[in-house]
Amino acid sequence: MKFSIKNIDSLDDDDLTQVKALDQKFFPFPWSHKQWDELNDNDRLFILKDDMDLVGFSLFRVEVDVFHLLKVLIAPELQSKNYAHQLMKDSYYALVKEAGNERNVFLEVQEGNLKAIRFYERIGLEKGERIKNYYSDGSVALRYFGKPKFT
Ligand SMILES: CC(C)(COP(=O)(O)OP(=O)(O)OC[C@H]1O[C@@H](n2cnc3c(N)ncnc32)[C@H](O)[C@@H]1OP(=O)(O)O)[C@@H](O)C(=O)NCCC(=O)NCCS
Repeated sequence: MKFSIKNIDSLDDDDLTQVKALDQKFFPFPWSHKQWDELNDNDRLFILKDDMDLVGFSLFRVEVDVFHLLKVLIAPELQSKNYAHQLMKDSYYALVKEAGNERNVFLEVQEGNLKAIRFYERIGLEKGERIKNYYSDGSVALRYFGKPKFT
């Protein structure tokens, strides 16, 4: 499995089409085209490729003090094989290299998304605020925060 790390500026149309398709198919709250179009110079997209097929991605926003994780996704047939851990580790250290320091990761996750919550807790992130009505269906978000620890 090959990890490619790409800034959204350098993504070719085919990569971006595949990222949007994965998001649409498997993300609990997929983004609209408009939301994808609003990505900017502070956003970094990391993709995981199996030969020509895109099978996962992570998307971060580089903010003043933190790396804000906007999305992470692994295709269902490849989940629970540690690829998310690998993708997150490679993404994080690419961000650290660019920023020049190890910033905290910050994210929101749906309270019922137990698989994602387990994943964030396994890499050492800590539960923070509980935000009511965060998602379009009125569901609750939990914030997670901290310096990730990877094996
Ligand atoms: C969140 C998400 C990326 C996590 O992916 P994941 O596949 O669970 O995470 P990992 O690749 O690190 O795999 C972890 C699992 O593999 C197991 N594992 C770890 N190392 C392993 C190894 N070397 N070999 C086999 N299994 C291993 C872990 O025990 C864990 O098992 P569990 O799922 O039963 O707890 C994934 O669930 C996903 O894409 N979800 C849909 C999108 C989403 O909800 N994103 C988050 C929104 S905020």
